[in-house]
Amino acid sequence: MPAALELGAAVFSAEQIAARVQELGEEIDDHYPSGDLLVLGVLKGSFIFMSDLVRNIPRPLQVDFLVAASYGSGTTTSGDVRLLYDPETQLRGKHILLAEDIVDSGNTLNRLVRLLEGREPRSLEICALLHKRIARSLELEPRFVGFDAPPLFLVGYGLDHAEDFRHLPYIASLEVSKE
Ligand code: IMP
Ligand code: MG
Repeated sequence: MPAALELGAAVFSAEQIAARVQELGEEIDDHYPSGDLLVLGVLKGSFIFMSDLVRNIPRPLQVDFLVAASYGSGTTTSGDVRLLYDPETQLRGKHILLAEDIVDSGNTLNRLVRLLEGREPRSLEICALLHKRIARSLELEPRFVGFDAPPLFLVGYGLDHAEDFRHLPYIASLEVSKE
């Protein structure tokens, strides 16, 4: 039985996202008065968010990425998180700000937080564009959150379904219906 995917209405518009990302940049700038700051994006989902976010943080910083794979082509979490690319930048002694697209079960973040704490950063915080607020136990609650997200599968602004829809400039829900 084939499943049909239907793109719903925008949940967060491009304008809403731009305004909130600008505020996040100011919050982050205020939080780090001094020290080396490395903004570490979790690929691929954070790539658009990262590029907007760092341009809204008016202080010196460095940018790197890591790749964690947790989702296949389905819309539910598998619980299996793998690290496919490790940042090349030195993490020790720096303020690390992990930038994530969305916190769902929290499995990805919990694994990443444990791994990054082992690299002895000066501090570790999380900036999540979206937070579903359904994670049972988070090792580290995101200090910076763009929006609380509804309990839907969301796509656009970097978020994908089986690699589709990342390019949408807004965030919309995706409904899977059995035909
Ligand atoms: P978690 O490990 O369950 O918290 O899931 C984290 C990752 O799953 C996110 O970084 C996304 O890549 C992906 N993900 C979770 N929820 C959604 C969603 O609603 N839309 C698209 N991707 C999602
Ligand atoms: Mg992701």
